[in-house]
Amino acid sequence: MSIIQLHDKYFKTYITKDKIALATKQLVKEVAKDCKKETPIFIGILNGSFMFVADFVRKYKYNCEVSFVKLASYEGTNSTGKIKQLVGLNQDLEGRTVVILEDIIDTGNTLQEIYEIFKDKKVKQLKIATLFFKPDVFKKELPIDYIGISIPDKFIVGYGLDYDGLGRNYANIYQLIPKPKVKYILLFGPPGVGKGTQADLLKEKYNLVHISTGDVFRSHMRRETKLGILAKSFIDKGNLVPDDVTIKMLKSVMKKVPHSNGIIFDGFPRTINQAIALDKFLEENGETIGGMITIEVPTNLLISRLLERGKTSGRVEDQDENKILVRFNEYFTKTEELKEYYRAQGKYFGIDGVGEISDITERLSEVFDKL
Ligand code: IMP
Ligand code: MG
Repeated sequence: MSIIQLHDKYFKTYITKDKIALATKQLVKEVAKDCKKETPIFIGILNGSFMFVADFVRKYKYNCEVSFVKLASYEGTNSTGKIKQLVGLNQDLEGRTVVILEDIIDTGNTLQEIYEIFKDKKVKQLKIATLFFKPDVFKKELPIDYIGISIPDKFIVGYGLDYDGLGRNYANIYQLIPKPKVKYILLFGPPGVGKGTQADLLKEKYNLVHISTGDVFRSHMRRETKLGILAKSFIDKGNLVPDDVTIKMLKSVMKKVPHSNGIIFDGFPRTINQAIALDKFLEENGETIGGMITIEVPTNLLISRLLERGKTSGRVEDQDENKILVRFNEYFTKTEELKEYYRAQGKYFGIDGVGEISDITERLSEVFDKL
Protein backbone atom coordinates (compact mmCIF):
# COMPACT_ATOMS: atom_id res chain seq x y z
CA MET A 1 0.00 0.00 0.00
CA SER A 2 1.15 3.51 -0.58
CA ILE A 3 -0.23 6.90 0.32
CA ILE A 4 -0.34 9.88 -2.03
CA GLN A 5 -1.24 13.47 -1.36
CA LEU A 6 -3.19 15.59 -3.86
CA HIS A 7 -3.78 19.20 -2.84
CA ASP A 8 -4.91 18.99 0.80
CA LYS A 9 -6.14 15.38 0.72
CA TYR A 10 -4.62 11.94 1.21
CA PHE A 11 -5.36 8.76 -0.71
CA LYS A 12 -4.28 5.15 -0.39
CA THR A 13 -4.09 2.39 -2.98
CA TYR A 14 -7.49 0.81 -3.45
CA ILE A 15 -7.83 -0.98 -6.81
CA THR A 16 -4.69 -2.08 -8.62
CA LYS A 17 -4.08 -1.67 -12.32
CA ASP A 18 -4.26 -5.46 -12.71
CA LYS A 19 -7.78 -5.56 -11.31
CA ILE A 20 -8.75 -2.67 -13.59
CA ALA A 21 -7.33 -4.52 -16.59
CA LEU A 22 -9.30 -7.62 -15.67
CA ALA A 23 -12.56 -5.71 -15.31
CA THR A 24 -11.91 -3.92 -18.63
CA LYS A 25 -11.30 -7.23 -20.36
CA GLN A 26 -14.60 -8.55 -19.04
CA LEU A 27 -16.44 -5.42 -20.19
CA VAL A 28 -14.92 -5.71 -23.67
CA LYS A 29 -16.08 -9.31 -23.83
CA GLU A 30 -19.66 -8.40 -22.93
CA VAL A 31 -19.81 -5.43 -25.29
CA ALA A 32 -18.24 -7.41 -28.15
CA LYS A 33 -20.81 -10.14 -27.73
CA ASP A 34 -23.59 -7.61 -28.35
CA CYS A 35 -21.92 -5.32 -30.89
CA LYS A 36 -19.34 -7.13 -32.98
CA LYS A 37 -21.69 -7.68 -35.93
CA GLU A 38 -21.80 -3.95 -36.60
CA THR A 39 -19.43 -1.03 -36.24
CA PRO A 40 -20.33 0.60 -32.93
CA ILE A 41 -19.29 4.13 -32.04
CA PHE A 42 -17.65 4.21 -28.64
CA ILE A 43 -18.13 7.59 -27.05
CA GLY A 44 -15.94 8.40 -24.07
CA ILE A 45 -17.09 10.98 -21.56
CA LEU A 46 -14.19 13.34 -20.92
CA ASN A 47 -12.10 14.02 -19.00
CA GLY A 48 -12.23 11.07 -16.66
CA SER A 49 -12.70 8.31 -19.23
CA PHE A 50 -9.65 8.90 -21.42
CA MET A 51 -7.55 6.12 -19.90
CA PHE A 52 -10.40 3.67 -19.73
CA VAL A 53 -11.36 4.36 -23.36
CA ALA A 54 -7.77 3.90 -24.52
CA ASP A 55 -7.44 0.56 -22.75
CA PHE A 56 -10.94 -0.56 -23.69
CA VAL A 57 -10.59 0.01 -27.42
CA ARG A 58 -7.13 -1.56 -27.49
CA LYS A 59 -8.69 -4.74 -26.17
CA TYR A 60 -11.67 -4.54 -28.58
CA LYS A 61 -10.63 -6.53 -31.63
CA TYR A 62 -13.53 -5.74 -34.03
CA ASN A 63 -14.39 -2.70 -36.16
CA CYS A 64 -15.33 0.33 -34.14
CA GLU A 65 -15.20 4.13 -34.15
CA VAL A 66 -14.10 6.24 -31.22
CA SER A 67 -15.30 9.70 -30.23
CA PHE A 68 -15.63 11.87 -27.15
CA VAL A 69 -17.90 14.37 -25.48
CA LYS A 70 -16.82 16.47 -22.57
CA LEU A 71 -19.11 16.88 -19.57
CA ALA A 72 -18.37 18.12 -16.09
CA SER A 73 -20.35 18.06 -12.86
CA TYR A 74 -17.83 17.76 -10.09
CA GLU A 75 -16.19 20.42 -7.99
CA GLY A 76 -13.66 19.09 -5.48
CA THR A 77 -14.99 15.83 -4.07
CA ASN A 78 -18.71 16.67 -4.48
CA SER A 79 -21.10 16.38 -7.39
CA THR A 80 -22.65 19.80 -8.01
CA GLY A 81 -25.70 18.29 -9.72
CA LYS A 82 -25.37 20.73 -12.62
CA ILE A 83 -23.88 19.24 -15.76
CA LYS A 84 -22.04 21.40 -18.22
CA GLN A 85 -21.43 20.23 -21.77
CA LEU A 86 -17.99 21.55 -22.67
CA VAL A 87 -17.33 19.71 -25.95
CA GLY A 88 -20.30 18.39 -27.88
CA LEU A 89 -20.97 15.88 -30.65
CA ASN A 90 -20.35 16.85 -34.25
CA GLN A 91 -21.19 13.57 -35.91
CA ASP A 92 -24.29 12.07 -37.50
CA LEU A 93 -25.32 9.13 -35.32
CA GLU A 94 -28.54 8.21 -37.08
CA GLY A 95 -29.04 4.46 -37.22
CA ARG A 96 -25.80 3.76 -35.39
CA THR A 97 -25.09 1.69 -32.32
CA VAL A 98 -23.58 4.01 -29.73
CA VAL A 99 -21.79 2.70 -26.64
CA ILE A 100 -21.04 5.29 -23.98
CA LEU A 101 -17.81 4.63 -22.10
CA GLU A 102 -17.87 6.20 -18.64
CA ASP A 103 -15.13 6.06 -16.06
CA ILE A 104 -17.54 6.25 -13.15
CA ILE A 105 -21.25 6.61 -12.46
CA ASP A 106 -21.97 8.19 -9.12
CA THR A 107 -25.28 10.04 -8.58
CA GLY A 108 -26.32 9.45 -12.19
CA ASN A 109 -26.71 13.15 -12.99
CA THR A 110 -24.20 12.86 -15.81
CA LEU A 111 -25.89 9.72 -17.09
CA GLN A 112 -29.22 11.53 -17.20
CA GLU A 113 -27.62 14.28 -19.23
CA ILE A 114 -26.19 11.67 -21.60
CA TYR A 115 -29.66 10.16 -22.19
CA GLU A 116 -30.87 13.73 -22.75
CA ILE A 117 -28.17 14.47 -25.34
CA PHE A 118 -28.82 11.30 -27.33
CA LYS A 119 -32.63 11.42 -27.14
CA ASP A 120 -33.07 13.13 -30.50
CA LYS A 121 -30.07 11.64 -32.34
CA LYS A 122 -32.10 8.77 -33.88
CA VAL A 123 -29.47 6.22 -32.90
CA LYS A 124 -30.25 2.55 -33.47
CA GLN A 125 -29.39 1.76 -29.89
CA LEU A 126 -27.68 3.49 -26.99
CA LYS A 127 -25.73 1.36 -24.54
CA ILE A 128 -23.97 2.48 -21.39
CA ALA A 129 -20.74 0.91 -20.12
CA THR A 130 -19.07 2.18 -16.98
CA LEU A 131 -15.84 1.02 -15.41
CA PHE A 132 -16.84 2.04 -11.87
CA PHE A 133 -20.28 2.31 -10.33
CA LYS A 134 -21.41 3.50 -6.90
CA PRO A 135 -24.74 1.71 -6.34
CA ASP A 136 -25.28 3.28 -2.90
CA VAL A 137 -25.30 6.78 -4.36
CA PHE A 138 -27.03 6.18 -7.68
CA LYS A 139 -30.44 7.86 -7.52
CA LYS A 140 -31.83 7.39 -11.04
CA GLU A 141 -34.08 4.89 -12.74
CA LEU A 142 -31.86 4.79 -15.81
CA PRO A 143 -30.46 1.63 -17.38
CA ILE A 144 -26.73 0.86 -17.22
CA ASP A 145 -25.89 -1.98 -19.58
CA TYR A 146 -22.35 -2.92 -18.55
CA ILE A 147 -20.71 -2.40 -15.17
CA GLY A 148 -17.03 -3.10 -14.48
CA ILE A 149 -16.53 -2.73 -10.74
CA SER A 150 -19.13 -1.66 -8.17
CA ILE A 151 -17.67 0.23 -5.25
CA PRO A 152 -19.05 1.65 -1.99
CA ASP A 153 -19.56 5.40 -1.64
CA LYS A 154 -15.88 6.30 -1.60
CA PHE A 155 -14.17 9.14 -3.41
CA ILE A 156 -11.51 7.70 -5.68
CA VAL A 157 -8.77 9.05 -7.91
CA GLY A 158 -6.34 7.67 -10.45
CA TYR A 159 -6.75 5.96 -13.81
CA GLY A 160 -8.26 9.11 -15.32
CA LEU A 161 -10.21 10.20 -12.24
CA ASP A 162 -9.16 13.37 -10.50
CA TYR A 163 -9.45 15.39 -7.36
CA ASP A 164 -9.55 19.02 -8.48
CA GLY A 165 -7.49 18.27 -11.54
CA LEU A 166 -4.85 16.10 -9.92
CA GLY A 167 -4.41 12.33 -9.82
CA ARG A 168 -5.54 11.38 -13.34
CA ASN A 169 -2.09 10.10 -14.28
CA TYR A 170 -1.87 7.29 -11.72
CA ALA A 171 -2.23 3.74 -13.06
CA ASN A 172 -3.88 2.43 -9.90
CA ILE A 173 -7.04 3.66 -8.18
CA TYR A 174 -6.65 5.35 -4.80
CA GLN A 175 -9.31 6.08 -2.22
CA LEU A 176 -9.71 9.10 0.03
CA ILE A 177 -8.49 8.61 3.60
CA PRO A 178 -8.23 10.90 6.61
CA LYS A 179 -4.92 12.69 7.03
CA PRO A 180 -2.53 9.98 8.19
CA LYS A 181 -0.99 10.35 11.61
CA VAL A 182 2.70 11.02 11.42
CA LYS A 183 4.59 7.79 11.91
CA TYR A 184 7.77 7.51 13.87
CA ILE A 185 9.61 4.34 13.09
CA LEU A 186 12.88 3.16 14.55
CA LEU A 187 14.98 1.02 12.29
CA PHE A 188 17.44 -1.20 14.11
CA GLY A 189 20.12 -3.71 13.40
CA PRO A 190 23.86 -4.12 13.82
CA PRO A 191 26.19 -2.12 11.55
CA GLY A 192 26.12 -3.27 7.91
CA VAL A 193 22.68 -4.80 8.06
CA GLY A 194 21.30 -2.56 5.29
CA LYS A 195 19.41 0.00 7.39
CA GLY A 196 20.45 2.91 5.16
CA THR A 197 19.51 1.11 1.93
CA GLN A 198 16.13 0.04 3.26
CA ALA A 199 15.38 3.42 4.82
CA ASP A 200 16.00 5.07 1.42
CA LEU A 201 13.56 2.71 -0.30
CA LEU A 202 10.92 2.98 2.41
CA LYS A 203 11.03 6.75 2.61
CA GLU A 204 10.17 6.91 -1.11
CA LYS A 205 7.41 4.37 -0.78
CA TYR A 206 5.72 5.93 2.26
CA ASN A 207 6.76 9.56 1.84
CA LEU A 208 8.83 9.57 5.01
CA VAL A 209 11.87 11.48 6.09
CA HIS A 210 14.95 9.46 6.94
CA ILE A 211 17.08 10.69 9.80
CA SER A 212 20.31 8.82 10.21
CA THR A 213 22.24 9.99 13.24
CA GLY A 214 25.36 8.56 11.62
CA ASP A 215 24.84 10.77 8.55
CA VAL A 216 24.16 13.82 10.70
CA PHE A 217 27.34 13.21 12.69
CA ARG A 218 29.36 12.62 9.53
CA SER A 219 28.08 15.89 8.07
CA HIS A 220 29.14 17.71 11.24
CA MET A 221 32.53 16.01 11.14
CA ARG A 222 33.02 16.94 7.48
CA ARG A 223 32.25 20.56 8.27
CA GLU A 224 34.44 20.27 11.40
CA THR A 225 31.83 21.89 13.62
CA LYS A 226 32.35 21.84 17.39
CA LEU A 227 29.88 18.98 17.61
CA GLY A 228 31.62 17.22 14.72
CA ILE A 229 35.04 17.31 16.34
CA LEU A 230 33.57 16.04 19.60
CA ALA A 231 31.65 13.27 17.87
CA LYS A 232 34.69 12.24 15.83
CA SER A 233 36.72 11.54 18.94
CA PHE A 234 34.17 8.87 19.91
CA ILE A 235 33.20 7.51 16.50
CA ASP A 236 36.79 6.95 15.32
CA LYS A 237 37.35 4.61 18.26
CA GLY A 238 34.13 2.78 17.49
CA ASN A 239 32.43 4.18 20.61
CA LEU A 240 28.98 5.72 20.96
CA VAL A 241 28.62 9.47 21.10
CA PRO A 242 27.33 10.48 24.59
CA ASP A 243 23.55 10.79 24.98
CA ASP A 244 23.34 14.49 25.73
CA VAL A 245 25.27 15.37 22.55
CA THR A 246 23.17 13.04 20.39
CA ILE A 247 19.84 14.18 21.81
CA LYS A 248 20.63 17.86 21.40
CA MET A 249 21.64 17.31 17.81
CA LEU A 250 18.55 15.25 17.03
CA LYS A 251 16.09 17.76 18.44
CA SER A 252 17.54 20.45 16.23
CA VAL A 253 17.31 18.19 13.15
CA MET A 254 13.67 17.26 13.88
CA LYS A 255 12.66 20.90 14.07
CA LYS A 256 13.75 21.32 10.47
CA VAL A 257 12.23 18.21 8.82
CA PRO A 258 10.01 18.92 5.78
CA HIS A 259 6.34 17.87 5.59
CA SER A 260 6.00 14.08 5.35
CA ASN A 261 4.01 11.11 6.62
CA GLY A 262 6.63 10.41 9.24
CA ILE A 263 10.22 9.87 10.19
CA ILE A 264 12.42 6.80 10.03
CA PHE A 265 15.18 6.99 12.60
CA ASP A 266 18.17 4.92 11.80
CA GLY A 267 20.88 4.70 14.41
CA PHE A 268 18.81 6.35 17.10
CA PRO A 269 18.09 5.79 19.93
CA ARG A 270 21.14 3.75 20.86
CA THR A 271 20.58 3.65 24.61
CA ILE A 272 17.66 3.46 27.01
CA ASN A 273 18.33 7.04 28.07
CA GLN A 274 18.05 8.20 24.48
CA ALA A 275 14.83 6.19 24.07
CA ILE A 276 13.32 7.81 27.15
CA ALA A 277 14.42 11.25 25.96
CA LEU A 278 12.82 10.61 22.53
CA ASP A 279 9.55 9.39 24.07
CA LYS A 280 9.42 12.51 26.24
CA PHE A 281 10.18 14.78 23.31
CA LEU A 282 7.44 13.21 21.14
CA GLU A 283 4.95 13.19 23.99
CA GLU A 284 5.36 16.94 24.38
CA ASN A 285 3.99 17.22 20.83
CA GLY A 286 1.21 14.67 21.42
CA GLU A 287 3.02 12.05 19.37
CA THR A 288 4.49 8.62 19.94
CA ILE A 289 6.75 5.97 18.41
CA GLY A 290 4.85 3.66 16.02
CA GLY A 291 7.27 0.79 16.23
CA MET A 292 10.81 -0.45 16.51
CA ILE A 293 11.88 -2.77 13.73
CA THR A 294 15.07 -4.79 13.87
CA ILE A 295 16.67 -6.20 10.75
CA GLU A 296 18.36 -9.44 11.78
CA VAL A 297 21.41 -10.86 9.97
CA PRO A 298 24.03 -13.32 11.32
CA THR A 299 27.22 -11.58 12.51
CA ASN A 300 29.70 -13.45 10.27
CA LEU A 301 27.84 -12.30 7.16
CA LEU A 302 27.96 -8.72 8.39
CA ILE A 303 31.70 -8.54 9.02
CA SER A 304 32.53 -9.37 5.42
CA ARG A 305 29.87 -6.93 4.15
CA LEU A 306 31.34 -4.12 6.27
CA LEU A 307 34.94 -4.74 5.22
CA GLU A 308 33.74 -4.62 1.61
CA ARG A 309 31.94 -1.30 2.23
CA GLY A 310 35.04 0.10 3.99
CA LYS A 311 37.03 -0.28 0.77
CA THR A 312 34.91 2.35 -1.00
CA SER A 313 32.98 4.36 1.59
CA GLY A 314 35.98 6.03 3.21
CA ARG A 315 34.50 5.23 6.60
CA VAL A 316 37.52 4.57 8.86
CA GLU A 317 35.43 2.49 11.25
CA ASP A 318 34.60 0.01 8.44
CA GLN A 319 38.21 -0.73 7.50
CA ASP A 320 39.41 -2.61 10.54
CA GLU A 321 37.90 -5.84 11.78
CA ASN A 322 38.70 -5.01 15.41
CA LYS A 323 36.80 -1.74 15.23
CA ILE A 324 33.90 -3.57 13.64
CA LEU A 325 33.89 -6.04 16.52
CA VAL A 326 33.88 -3.17 19.03
CA ARG A 327 30.77 -1.78 17.30
CA PHE A 328 29.05 -5.15 17.31
CA ASN A 329 29.81 -5.45 20.96
CA GLU A 330 28.39 -1.98 21.59
CA TYR A 331 25.32 -2.88 19.57
CA PHE A 332 24.61 -6.16 21.25
CA THR A 333 25.26 -5.01 24.81
CA LYS A 334 23.67 -1.55 24.76
CA THR A 335 21.21 -1.58 21.90
CA GLU A 336 19.75 -5.02 22.36
CA GLU A 337 18.25 -3.97 25.67
CA LEU A 338 16.24 -1.43 23.71
CA LYS A 339 14.36 -4.33 22.19
CA GLU A 340 13.08 -5.13 25.65
CA TYR A 341 12.15 -1.51 26.23
CA TYR A 342 9.98 -1.44 23.09
CA ARG A 343 8.78 -5.02 23.45
CA ALA A 344 7.29 -4.05 26.80
CA GLN A 345 5.25 -1.38 24.97
CA GLY A 346 4.14 -3.87 22.29
CA LYS A 347 6.15 -1.96 19.69
CA TYR A 348 8.93 -4.40 18.85
CA PHE A 349 9.13 -6.17 15.46
CA GLY A 350 11.99 -8.33 14.20
CA ILE A 351 12.43 -9.20 10.54
CA ASP A 352 14.82 -11.52 8.71
CA GLY A 353 17.47 -9.43 6.94
CA VAL A 354 18.97 -12.18 4.79
CA GLY A 355 17.93 -12.17 1.12
CA GLU A 356 17.38 -9.85 -1.81
CA ILE A 357 17.02 -6.14 -1.03
CA SER A 358 13.50 -6.16 -2.46
CA ASP A 359 12.45 -9.12 -0.30
CA ILE A 360 13.63 -7.32 2.80
CA THR A 361 11.79 -4.15 1.75
CA GLU A 362 8.68 -6.31 1.34
CA ARG A 363 9.09 -7.77 4.86
CA LEU A 364 9.57 -4.29 6.30
CA SER A 365 6.54 -2.99 4.40
CA GLU A 366 4.36 -5.64 5.99
CA VAL A 367 5.27 -4.21 9.37
CA PHE A 368 4.98 -0.57 8.20
CA ASP A 369 1.46 -1.21 6.90
CA LYS A 370 0.40 -2.43 10.35
CA LEU A 371 1.72 0.59 12.24
P1 IMP B 1 -22.46 11.66 -11.42
O1 IMP B 1 -22.99 12.65 -12.40
O2 IMP B 1 -22.74 12.03 -10.00
O3 IMP B 1 -22.85 10.23 -11.72
O4 IMP B 1 -20.88 11.74 -11.47
C1 IMP B 1 -20.21 11.49 -12.59
C2 IMP B 1 -18.92 12.23 -12.66
O5 IMP B 1 -18.47 12.70 -11.41
C3 IMP B 1 -17.85 11.30 -13.13
O6 IMP B 1 -17.78 11.28 -14.52
C4 IMP B 1 -16.62 11.87 -12.51
O7 IMP B 1 -16.11 12.89 -13.31
C5 IMP B 1 -17.10 12.47 -11.22
N1 IMP B 1 -16.93 11.51 -10.09
C6 IMP B 1 -17.86 10.78 -9.46
N2 IMP B 1 -17.34 10.05 -8.46
C7 IMP B 1 -16.03 10.32 -8.45
C8 IMP B 1 -14.92 9.86 -7.66
O8 IMP B 1 -15.03 9.03 -6.75
N3 IMP B 1 -13.70 10.36 -7.97
C9 IMP B 1 -13.50 11.26 -8.96
N4 IMP B 1 -14.50 11.72 -9.73
C10 IMP B 1 -15.76 11.25 -9.48
MG1 MG C 1 -16.76 11.39 -16.00
